[in-house]
Amino acid sequence: MLRSTLASGITIGALASISSAAALAVTANIAAASVNRADCRCFPGDACWPSANEWNSLNQTVNGRLIATIPLAAACHDDQYAAYDEERCSELQNSWLDPETHLPSSSSIMAPFFANQSCDPFQPRSAQCVIGTYVQYAINVSDVTDVVNGLNFATNHNIRLVVRNTGHDYNGKSTGAGALGLWMGNLKDTEIKDWSDKHYTGKAIKVGAGIRGGEAYKIADAAGYQVVGGECPTVGIAGGYSQGGGHSALTSRHGLAADQVLEWEVVTATGGHILANRQQNTDLYWALSGGGGGTYGIVLSMTSKLHPDTPTVGFNLTFTSAGIPMDIYYEAITAYHAALPAIVDAGAMSVWYFTNESFAISPITAPDVGLSELMDLLAPFMDKLDQLNITYTHYFGQFETYLEHFDTMFSPIQVGIAQYGGRLIPRSVVENNNTALTEAFRFINENGGQFIGVGVNASLARSGFPENAVNPGWRDALIDTTLTTPWNFTAPWEEMVANKDKMTNLFIPKLAELTPNGSCYLNEGDFQQPNFQEVFYGKNYQKLSEIKDKYDPHHIFYATTAVGSEYWEPQEDGRLCRAT
Ligand SMILES: Cc1cc2nc3c(=O)[nH]c(=O)nc-3n(C[C@H](O)[C@H](O)[C@H](O)COP(=O)(O)OP(=O)(O)OC[C@H]3O[C@@H](n4cnc5c(N)ncnc54)[C@H](O)[C@@H]3O)c2cc1C
Ligand SMILES: *[C@@H]1O[C@H](CO)[C@@H](O)[C@H](O)[C@H]1NC(C)=O
Ligand SMILES: *[C@@H]1O[C@H](CO)[C@@H](O)[C@H](O)[C@H]1NC(C)=O
Ligand SMILES: *[C@@H]1O[C@H](CO)[C@@H](O)[C@H](O)[C@H]1NC(C)=O
Ligand SMILES: *[C@@H]1O[C@H](CO)[C@@H](O)[C@H](O)[C@H]1NC(C)=O
Ligand SMILES: *[C@@H]1O[C@H](CO)[C@@H](O)[C@H](O)[C@H]1NC(C)=O
Ligand SMILES: *[C@@H]1O[C@H](CO)[C@@H](O)[C@H](O)[C@H]1NC(C)=O
Ligand SMILES: *[C@@H]1O[C@H](CO)[C@@H](O)[C@H](O)[C@H]1NC(C)=O
Ligand SMILES: *[C@@H]1O[C@H](CO)[C@@H](O)[C@H](O)[C@H]1NC(C)=O
Ligand SMILES: *[C@@H]1O[C@H](CO)[C@@H](O)[C@H](O)[C@H]1NC(C)=O
Ligand SMILES: *[C@@H]1O[C@H](CO)[C@@H](O)[C@H](O)[C@H]1NC(C)=O
Repeated sequence: MLRSTLASGITIGALASISSAAALAVTANIAAASVNRADCRCFPGDACWPSANEWNSLNQTVNGRLIATIPLAAACHDDQYAAYDEERCSELQNSWLDPETHLPSSSSIMAPFFANQSCDPFQPRSAQCVIGTYVQYAINVSDVTDVVNGLNFATNHNIRLVVRNTGHDYNGKSTGAGALGLWMGNLKDTEIKDWSDKHYTGKAIKVGAGIRGGEAYKIADAAGYQVVGGECPTVGIAGGYSQGGGHSALTSRHGLAADQVLEWEVVTATGGHILANRQQNTDLYWALSGGGGGTYGIVLSMTSKLHPDTPTVGFNLTFTSAGIPMDIYYEAITAYHAALPAIVDAGAMSVWYFTNESFAISPITAPDVGLSELMDLLAPFMDKLDQLNITYTHYFGQFETYLEHFDTMFSPIQVGIAQYGGRLIPRSVVENNNTALTEAFRFINENGGQFIGVGVNASLARSGFPENAVNPGWRDALIDTTLTTPWNFTAPWEEMVANKDKMTNLFIPKLAELTPNGSCYLNEGDFQQPNFQEVFYGKNYQKLSEIKDKYDPHHIFYATTAVGSEYWEPQEDGRLCRAT
């Protein structure tokens, strides 16, 4: 896929542009091994691609909310979409790593590998600006009718359909070449309600599909509650995040985001507008709660538990490896991992980062934990740092509310800076094999990989014994490890491809050795993960596949590594063809 498989890609790309019978005869042997176009989605330039009139009539059915894609960085190149504009281009370059830059766009995505340099602001003015891997059109969805009309149009015209919200997805799941996008990001209704069923009685929040974490925190806070959402305020709450599991600074206290969900409001692939909860469409409810975004149906709204707000303690700490023997530096990191079980069991969550140059806890979030309790839990680690003669900087903060903690202790997260892969590390590995784990991380660091950790207790007991499709690997995990390699917009593309393959072939296998038959968080995984079905979904895969087939019998929805993605094979140019 993309440029990485250029050799096989050239075959298919060349075939697509050859139309004469003579030319086809010459390449007959290739054609035989290639795909039958009738089994593919229509693509721009094909005879079956809808005419301007047909797009216009779709536009009328959605009250003028159809947007033809103009790539966000069009001003950086000489192209048909916008005049070159040096000032606008440098503004885009300066803000491209800020998620806010991409959010108002109906087509942009934040993961540069999947944008495929289609219209890249860091490439020279003379470089291409094409729609490429971005969606061709998007409906700026305002209600259920827009969704149903878009769905019908894509189905009737055999067009690839992509559900998109904020465009944060690391694996390009919210974009697609030749696609019509259903852009859910402007569905902003919210309502605080009372909920009562056999499983839960209490306050709940109903959020439109476009509500982001930061927006939900403010609304909950104003009413005296906290809500489980991500560490980055611009990640959607009801989209890929909660549908994929969703870890949060509140997870050791309340569970994962998927564990909070009481009800989904959904449009199915066949156009049904339904509710899925513990009383009706229970299989769909189960699948959407942790089984991954973009493949079972289109979520219009989500209703989730609210929790009474609590005072929250925050902590951060940094040190560097400057002037310290590397063995000592990594011994300190081992000591932090050894301290984690007690920290997460107290209800706290930690984010930490390290390379072979620096280490940062950034931050620990301890909702409803006393300051002195957290200090006691950290004492063994800090004593160890003293013993190792490591100088560090640290900070304890006490906040009245979770929101105040969040706004003070979490720094803005940049996007477009890395490629990702991950592994869930069971608590038993830290307890029984901590040194070997550190050795693996050290190897990864020394070979150019960076570590990001999320330390949680997301066990069933903590999460209220939800029955949902969250990867069971989460339940005994202590560390959700994300590994990154740095993205460089101006480096030769081949270097970025090599980094991506290093993740798959070198880094993840190091962690897999220590976690046999292990798992990975599907939203932070390597999209080339072998056996992704088992690694991302665990024992739930078969059941999820059956639910996918029931609610999307014609396989309208596709996303990389999503359940049911095996039905389609993306070609070199991004066109989807049925897998043979
Ligand atoms: C900077 C950054 C920080 C992050 N922090 C966290 C974190 O703290 N915790 C965590 O768990 N994850 C985190 N993630 C990962 C995040 O959960 C995923 O990127 C997730 O896919 C984002 O969902 P979205 O809806 O915002 O994004 P999109 O990229 O728009 O969508 C992601 C997927 O969800 C599907 N989808 C979106 N909306 C709908 C809908 N209404 N109905 C059906 N399918 C839909 C899309 O088709 C796509 O498959 C982070 C990612 C980034 C880039
Ligand atoms: C859809 O209609 C609106 C309003 O008439 C118009 O502004 C917009 O450009 C149209 N979209 C497309 C793709 O033609
Ligand atoms: C999408 O619709 C919202 C209103 O629902 C509007 O505020 C926004 O400007 C629209 N975005 C685009 C790119 O048309
Ligand atoms: C730390 O410093 C003390 C005093 O300088 C020294 O005795 C001790 O050996 C050092 N420890 C390590 C692990 O370097
Ligand atoms: C720790 O948090 C405080 C308060 O937000 C901040 O001023 C400081 O820069 C942070 N330090 C580190 C090392 O992250
Ligand atoms: C640190 O890691 C980099 C790669 O990220 C590597 O080039 C360097 O040699 C490493 N340094 C040490 C001291 O291991
Ligand atoms: C999580 O906490 C529960 C108690 O609530 C404890 O029984 C369990 O061992 C912990 N497990 C993990 C993996 O963190
Ligand atoms: C990015 O790549 C370019 C071209 O190879 C190189 O000159 C530059 O130093 C790289 N930047 C970083 C931060 O490595
Ligand atoms: C620790 O990891 C090493 C390396 O993978 C492995 O050989 C060993 O069996 C593990 N030990 C335990 C106790 O799991
Ligand atoms: C991993 O799974 C395979 C196949 O299911 C099984 O044979 C093997 O025993 C498992 N290994 C471990 C360490 O659990
Ligand atoms: C990615 O870009 C390359 C080079 O421009 C192109 O050959 C390939 O078709 C693109 N892939 C997709 C999926 O658009």
